[in-house]
Amino acid sequence: MKTIIIANWKCNPTSLKEAESLFSSVRGGIKNSENVEVVICPPFAYLPALLKDPKALIIGGQNAFWEDKGAFTGEISPPMLKDLGCQYVILGHSERRKYFSEKDEEVNKKMKAVVSASLKPILCIGETQEEREKGETKKVLKSQLQKALYKATSYKLQATSFVVAYEPIWAIGTGKACSSEEAEKVAVFIRKILADLYDQDTASQVPILYGGSANSQNAQSYIKEANLQGLLVGGASLEADEFIKIIETVVEK
Ligand code: PGA
Repeated sequence: MKTIIIANWKCNPTSLKEAESLFSSVRGGIKNSENVEVVICPPFAYLPALLKDPKALIIGGQNAFWEDKGAFTGEISPPMLKDLGCQYVILGHSERRKYFSEKDEEVNKKMKAVVSASLKPILCIGETQEEREKGETKKVLKSQLQKALYKATSYKLQATSFVVAYEPIWAIGTGKACSSEEAEKVAVFIRKILADLYDQDTASQVPILYGGSANSQNAQSYIKEANLQGLLVGGASLEADEFIKIIETVVEK
């Protein structure tokens, strides 16, 4: 299984010129991406321009609607992303849940639509600081997974067709990354839930990523020590040099 390093640019940068410059710096700076799949998820508006010449980079969306087309002002559908050349789509990110009131049930509909369009969902799950303090992490993650994957098997949501990103909300953008020990324990738990939903063998094939203040200093610990299959990188992916360093430390593993 290749290590997957995903850049989540969120709502950045504010011009196509900057987006193209960041993209080409990353693309040109990666010397060796053997065994690493590098995925860039820019804002929708920049997708066509960046997809013109992605070279070895893979491109993904940051969200997608659950219907293919119709009267849904402002939405972008999975077939549209597929048609442009995207391969991945981030779903259920905590910022979508928080600022756009996205519910697990909607994430479930999106998961099915994205997989039906032959795109790979990156399913984000994670607990808040408060839930963590109350000892509710496992309960929250179990519920998010079960709901997002509800009736998944009957919708061809095979375990090999998606990626799970454990993104503790308290670690996102705070500089307080989760320790590799804790991330490893959570990943073992996530795999157990996946085994209950599918089976042991299938669960073992789902890549589990970590996200939340990941940077070039801590990147290796998640891959090497916590046995995770990749990273979802926000802030640190907006600086080409830092993002390239993350890829390099992971290739070195
Ligand atoms: P961060 O964001 O790396 O800036 O913490 C990660 C994410 O939200 O995907």
